[in-house]
This record gives sequence, C-alpha cells and structure tokens, in this order.
Amino acid sequence: MEEYINFFNNYTKHYMQIAKNDFQKVHINRKIEHSKRVNKFSIEIAKELKLEENEQYIINIASLLHDIGRFEQFYKYSTYVDKDSVNHALLGCQILEEKQILNKLKEDEKNTIIEIIKMHNYKELPKDISQKLYLLASIIRDADKIDWLYAMVNIIPNLSQENQAVFYSNKPEKNYISKELVNLILNDQKIARSNLTTRDELRVSGIAWITSDINCKPSYNIIKKEDIINKTYKLMKDSEEKKIIFDYIYSYMNKLN
Ligand SMILES: [Fe+2]
Repeated sequence: MEEYINFFNNYTKHYMQIAKNDFQKVHINRKIEHSKRVNKFSIEIAKELKLEENEQYIINIASLLHDIGRFEQFYKYSTYVDKDSVNHALLGCQILEEKQILNKLKEDEKNTIIEIIKMHNYKELPKDISQKLYLLASIIRDADKIDWLYAMVNIIPNLSQENQAVFYSNKPEKNYISKELVNLILNDQKIARSNLTTRDELRVSGIAWITSDINCKPSYNIIKKEDIINKTYKLMKDSEEKKIIFDYIYSYMNKLN
C-alpha cells in the first residue's frame, strides 16, 4: 500500500506547489483531505463487512485514488463542476494509466479499481455488473457521500464566504426548501442536484441520501458516530419543511436499530 500512499502524497503535494493562488490552494487541499477521509471511511466499511483481504486491498487503493482527477481539474479550470470542465473520474483513470500507477497489480485488480473510480461519478450504479463490483463500488460511493456530509458540518463552516460558496455551488443562503423537494425526500426519490436553488435544499438533499442512497449497513454506524444528522440540523435555520424532513430521517435511523 505504501507505494500508492507515496504516489498520492507526492502527486497532490505538486498541485499544492503549482496552485495559481490561495483560492486554488484551499480547494486543492480540501480534496486532499477529502480523499484521505474517504479512504478511512471506506476501509472501515470494508472491514465491518468482513471483506476478503484482497478486496480490502482494492478498496484501500481505489478509495485513496478515486478523486485523483480533481487536482488537475481544479488547477486547469478552477471548478469542481464536471459539466463546466471535465469528467473528473475519467480524467483520474487516464492519469493513473499514463503514470502506470496500477501496473504492478494483477490485470483484474487493476480493472476493478478503474471501474470503481469511473462508477463513483455515476448517478446510479448499473444493474448488470457483477455482485462483487457492485459491492466494492457501493462502499466508495457511500464513503464519498458520508464525507460530503462530514465536510459540510465540520470543515466548510470554518471557510471564508467565498470558499463556502464553492462547496454550495454558489447557491444562496436562503431559508427555503420547496414542497416538491420535501415530497421527493419523503418518497425516497433520487434528487437531481441541478434543480436545487438554495443551500438548505442542498443540505437536506445530502441528508436524504441516508434514506435513499446509502447501500452498506456499516455506513450508518459512521453517520451515527460522526453525529452528522444532529450537526446538519443545527447548521440550518428552523422551518416547517426542515422539521418534516428531519422527523423522517430520525425515524428511519431509529428503525434501523
Ligand atoms: Fe469524485
């Protein structure tokens, strides 16, 4: 594992050095820390699921490198919005190929890692992939979502307004959640983030992953341990819509026990 950690550290350090300004530094650093936490959460989930040694190894590498395309993306375009720049997952796979980072692995291990990295950026996982790949990809996708929530409550509030705006895709800080969104959440529907208009809508849509798009049981333990629901609740101003949504999420979590 050491060589992958060394590659990650050297590769990302380089982007911290060539960053064009402090703005780029903040957001490149944010993705370095994100990658490390997704790695930590993914390993935790894989261990709790009692995956085989070799599968845990694949999870370890894939989670650390899943966002390796983010650094070149932000350096080049100063945005993490794929549709305004580049598909960061495909770019990441291309970088790993070019630099021959995965070449010491067996062919099928390498292919699995590449597939997991590609699929972490899909809206939904394809239904026709092997059970094993589905499980491995789900672990990274869960950990990625958990860390979006983790950062929202623990990291982003400490950033400047300008930098917070990047995280919230420049949506306004407005105490508004539409009735349509409340209905989608109460019916466990997947939500297109591009339709959201406020930061509160983004926050509750993130929290709604808990009932609609978290796939591995151990992921709920991390969400509990990190106190993510309570912290999100406290981050938001009160409203009737917020209350309805959080009542729903809390009761879902209570039923899991
Ligand atoms: Fe990503």
